[in-house]
Amino acid sequence: MVIYLIGFMGCGKSTSGKQLARYLNYDFIDLDIVFENQEKMYIPEYFEKFGEESFRKIEQDILRSIDTNKNIVVATGGGTPCFYNNMEYMRNTGITVYLQLPSTLLCKRLINSHNIRPKIQEKKTEELKTWVDELIKERTLFYKKAHVIIDARTLTSSMLAKVITPYFTHSF
Ligand code: S3P
Repeated sequence: MVIYLIGFMGCGKSTSGKQLARYLNYDFIDLDIVFENQEKMYIPEYFEKFGEESFRKIEQDILRSIDTNKNIVVATGGGTPCFYNNMEYMRNTGITVYLQLPSTLLCKRLINSHNIRPKIQEKKTEELKTWVDELIKERTLFYKKAHVIIDARTLTSSMLAKVITPYFTHSF
């Protein structure tokens, strides 16, 4: 069974994903890390050199290279569900879980985060807020297709595991 965690940058996919994998005794895959290891380059640098389109193609391939017969928690990138038919693919091959957070909180986290992300570094706080609001509006159309939508503000791995339990008997 593959559990795909989706949601905007800064919603905690990687942190919650690692905890959930440990809790369920599943493997853990972070798409961004697989990308960086494979391309031997940090994502912001890749965006700068080769552009987003090229990034999305490789991201799509990495997503499809995951063995869906194994027990794995996958932390996707914030844009993963919104390109090609990745959302449909994930829905058909596993459980999709949207970690939802209000944009004000996401902005705070992105500003404080030590992770360097493309498109974030160069923006001032006010500009960032407008950009995040607009992008969330667009992306929510995809995120909302998840099997499970969860308020990520007070999330623990046991809560997350409990919420997705009914889906374990579901066949895809
Ligand atoms: C992106 C989010 C990033 C990473 C890339 C693009 C996006 O992942 O995939 O920088 O378009 O939202 P995180 O959501 O893990 O930061």
